[in-house]
Amino acid sequence: MIKNMIKYGAYLFLFSFFSSNVIANTDISLPSKLNKCIVCHTISGNSLIGTWPKIAEQHSDYMIKQLIEFKKGKNGDRYDPTMFGMIQDIDESDMISLSNYFSNQILQKNKNKKFDREKAKLGKSIYLYGDNNTGIAACVGCHGRDGKGNKLAKYPVLRWQHKDYIITQMKKFKNSERSNDINGIMRDIAKCTSDLQIEALAEYISNMR
Ligand code: HEC
Ligand code: HEC
Repeated sequence: MIKNMIKYGAYLFLFSFFSSNVIANTDISLPSKLNKCIVCHTISGNSLIGTWPKIAEQHSDYMIKQLIEFKKGKNGDRYDPTMFGMIQDIDESDMISLSNYFSNQILQKNKNKKFDREKAKLGKSIYLYGDNNTGIAACVGCHGRDGKGNKLAKYPVLRWQHKDYIITQMKKFKNSERSNDINGIMRDIAKCTSDLQIEALAEYISNMR
């Protein structure tokens, strides 16, 4: 009797093990337009080139907002010729599935051999405390101590992003080339930030713990 129960239990265990695997496999169906994106962002969302942003673990609602803006082209508030070209045949339901896919990938650290400790120290101080002399608000208030942003508020993840990309975006906010930030939050901050401070912030953020 007991022997039979153990036997039955083992079958049940094996059955649930295999059936759960089958369910898991159907879950990882890839978004149909993914091929268009992975040339630059890679299949894991960790792009290898400094000017192409990493989008693994980025909040999906934030990404959907960006994709909608890119698609508007020059009429929108974030014009980028590369992303404008990429997004033309992507409709809103593709945007959602692609953003969900990338937000579920695992973000990888940068392997930065030329890490500038002094610059990163200055960057860390501005990130945590802002700069009273020039009026820079502390980044930590919105982007968080760990750089993971705020999903609900659509404050993007910053940590481990490529240095070059961070510098480009800060400069785009500074000259209002990128103006999709509600109430000009980022434009106001970037305008108070010198090029040297931008580099220091990028050094810190791209290598933060
Ligand atoms: C040829 C390279 C290339 C391809 C292909 C490409 N992208 Fe991009 N992507 C970029 C660049 C460059 C930027 C930064 C644009 C800027 O400076 O604003 C970007 C930005 C983004 C952003 C904004 C990231 C952020 O942190 O704000 C998202 C989201 C994104 N791409 C998703 C996609 C998706 C989804 C696809 C496929 C449909 C795709 N990209 C295809 C190069 C590419
Ligand atoms: C009051 C909130 C707030 C503060 C403070 C703030 N940010 Fe932001 N930041 C935002 C929001 C919101 C966005 C996204 C705007 C959008 O929707 O495109 C953003 C976007 C960014 C981006 C672009 C990210 C990407 O993936 O393209 C960078 C870089 C950035 N912030 C850096 C900083 C730095 C550096 C500081 C501190 C000096 C800072 N932010 C302070 C709210 C804030």
